[in-house]
This record gives sequence, structure tokens and C-alpha cells, in this order.
Amino acid sequence: MTKGVLWGGRFDAEPSEVMFLLSKSTHFDFRLASLDCRGSLAHANALHAAGLLTDDDHQGLLAGIKKLKEHVDTGQFQPLDVDEDVHGALERGLTEIVGEELAGRLRAGRSRNDQIATLIRMYLREGTVKLSGLLTKFIAALATQAEKNMGLVMPGRTHMQIAQPVLLSHHLLAHAWPMVRNISRLDDLNKRLSASPYGSAALGGATLGLDPEQVAKELGFAGSVPNSIDGTSARDVVAEAAYVMAQIGVDLSRLAEDIIFWCTQEAGYASLDDAWATGSSIMPQKKNPDVAELVRGKAGRLIGNLSGLLATLKGLPLAYDRDLQEDKEPIFDSCDQLALILPAMTGLVSTLSFDPERMKALASAGFSLATDMADWLVQRGVPFAEAHEITGQAVQLCETEAIELEELTEEQLLSLSPHLTEEVRTVLSVTGAIEARNAIGGTATSRVREQLDYLRRRVGLE
Ligand code: ARG
Repeated sequence: MTKGVLWGGRFDAEPSEVMFLLSKSTHFDFRLASLDCRGSLAHANALHAAGLLTDDDHQGLLAGIKKLKEHVDTGQFQPLDVDEDVHGALERGLTEIVGEELAGRLRAGRSRNDQIATLIRMYLREGTVKLSGLLTKFIAALATQAEKNMGLVMPGRTHMQIAQPVLLSHHLLAHAWPMVRNISRLDDLNKRLSASPYGSAALGGATLGLDPEQVAKELGFAGSVPNSIDGTSARDVVAEAAYVMAQIGVDLSRLAEDIIFWCTQEAGYASLDDAWATGSSIMPQKKNPDVAELVRGKAGRLIGNLSGLLATLKGLPLAYDRDLQEDKEPIFDSCDQLALILPAMTGLVSTLSFDPERMKALASAGFSLATDMADWLVQRGVPFAEAHEITGQAVQLCETEAIELEELTEEQLLSLSPHLTEEVRTVLSVTGAIEARNAIGGTATSRVREQLDYLRRRVGLE
């Protein structure tokens, strides 16, 4: 048998080089090595409990695996070119420590099929916790900016057209809530990740009197899987993780796009901190939002990882197929990309500075107070459809005269409708419009403060 390869007895010839290169996964699955050692410790205990290891062998194996794990964790133990996968590499490492006889006992009653299915779940369980931590920091950055800039107004947009004035803090927090939902998606996913396939063996379940529940508990799972075929072949939880990560990427890309727009000369709402912007090699004046653009770009990659994974899973017959090895690179990549872009977006958001005057000047542009005029008429008994019509005519008149709504004279107002008295001007202000939206979830200052408090409580930021 080739070292670092866990099969070979029935073969006369060594694997062809090309086949071996295709089969090999150590360059990406070795990141599961420490977790695999934990699995091996639990498995050694299960073998001992089933009476398959003497007390001495048990102790010898535990000590050897612990030493190997230490070497893995410090980087002292590395895979070699001859190692087919993480499991093969570790058996080679264990053999080096405890000898062939003892190391050879550990493989009894387990298969790489149940091992790998368990390891990816363990990895993702840790991953979801790390990711929630990064998301919480990102939300905290948005909350801090919302607090710091409380009261600043900006144009709210629909269809990219200026629609109604809103508070900047309200808009910033609108980017926080999707991340709150993503945290809850991760929590939820964690419940489904909490069943251990260890003990499912190749597909049919463990022989030798091994207890999957014991191993599951030892590895911190809630329990073991109810079906060994499903346990070894299901990767829906990996796809679900890829989905949540893609969703996070998509949500980040929407904020990225906002920031890119806010920093254009045309909008001029915000400027980037020097430490979070890049320059141009040819245009000395440029300050580019590359961070936001890379984040927007990475969202595509995260979606690709999800769709690639789903395509791999589609139509796969039960139980284990080698195609399943293709689950790891995309999901690891999604984890790695988010570990890069979430802190970057947190830094970008924390250091953005806003131009209150510019945002205010645009807040009432594009007749953004027209809805307030219509609402004012409704409060005076005019049916909304009629109020909509009257206000539309007011906008048209302003457009021809090149004036703003609040500049319409008394005669002009009354010519549009006898209901439209000069008093309407009281609501034709940006602050008036903002404070009028005082229902739960609205942009009125008191509601945004309330929302910010609620967000902080929800995420445990206090
Ligand atoms: N490396 C494989 C995977 O990631 C696990 C090994 C199972 N290989 C096998 N021939 N049964 O899915």
C-alpha cells in the first residue's frame, strides 16, 4: 500500500499519476485535519467502549492522536505529496507516532464516508459561529454610524429617483436588518448541522457494536443521524450554508453599491477615508471605492459557489459518490471570502464621512414633498385619488415655472384646488415630512431612535 493512501490490498499496480492527482484532495481538505483528530479521539473511545481496544492500546492511541493533533495545530505536521487525502495523511502521521500495529486498529468500523460527512458539519458549525461574530461587528458599525449621524436627512429613492426625504440613520439601519436575519439563518442552520453522521460508516451503519450516539455527544453534536445512508450522502446542509453565505454577499453588495453611488461627484453624499480607498496609476486625482467594488464583485463568486454546489448535488444517486468531494472547495471559498469582505465592509462603513449640506440640499429635490401635500389634502377631507391628481398638477405647474412646491403663490395654489390654501406650506419642509412618518418602522427621528435601540437589543450590542 502506498503511504498516505487508505486502500490498495486488491490492487496489483500503483495508481497512475494522473488518476492520483485527480483523486487527491489534501491541498484543500487538510484544513479539516484538527477536526479529524478530534473525531479519531472520539472513535478510539467508541472502539474501547465496544471492547475492541485493550486499555493499554486505548491509552496509547489517545496519546498518539493527541500528539498528532498538536503537531497539526502548530503546523509541524504537514501533508506530503503521497497523501491522498486528509485521512490518509493523518493515518500516516499516526503510524509515525504509534507504529503500524496500533495505528492500524483505529480504522475499524469507520469509513472516510462518514468521517468526511461529519467533519464538514463540524467545520460549518464552527464557521457559522465565527460568521455570526463578524456579522455582529458589521451591524455594530452601522449602528454606530446611525447614532453618530442621527438627524441628518437625505433623499430617499425608489427606482433610483428621489422619492421622499428620509433620515440617513434610517437608511443605514436598513442595511443592518438583513444581516440580523442572516444571523438568524445561521442559527437555524446550526440546528440542522447538529446531527453527527459518525457511525454511519460506508453507508449501512456501524458494525462491531460501536455507538454513534457516544461519538456524537463527544464531538458536541446534539445526537447522531437517524439514517446512515442519508448521513453519508446528504450535503443539503452544505448547500444551505452556501446559500446563507451567498445571501450575505448579495446583501453586502447592495450596501456596496449605495456607497459607490454616494461617493460619486454627482451624489456627493459621502467620502471615503484614505485608508479605505485606492488611487489610480495614471489619474493622480482619483480616489476609488475599490473595497465596495470588490465586495460587489465577490457576491457573484459567492453565488457561483452556491450554484456550482447545487449542480454537483443534482441527480446524485444515494449513497456516497465521489462527486461529493467537490463540496469542499466552494464552501471553503465562501467562508474565506466572507472572512475577507465582512471586516473590510465594517472598516469601510465605520470610516465613511457624510456631507450633511449636500444630502439636505437634495432631500427635497425632485418634488419629494409631493406625497406630503397629498396627505395634507386627505387630512382636509379630500379623497386620496383627487389629492393625488391635484398634487400632480401642482408638480406640473412647478416644472413649467421652474420653481419648488413651497414657492407656489396663494393664487396658484387656489387655482389648483379650493382646498389648497397657503397653510399647506407648513408640511412642505424636509423635517416636517420626516417627522410626519412617525408610525412604527418609519423615518421620524423618535422611531429611528427606537429602532436603533431595538436593533442593539436584538443583536446584544448593549
Ligand atoms: N475525500 C472524500 C470526500 O471529500 C472522502 C473520501 C471518500 N472516498 C471514497 N473513495 N470513499 O468526500
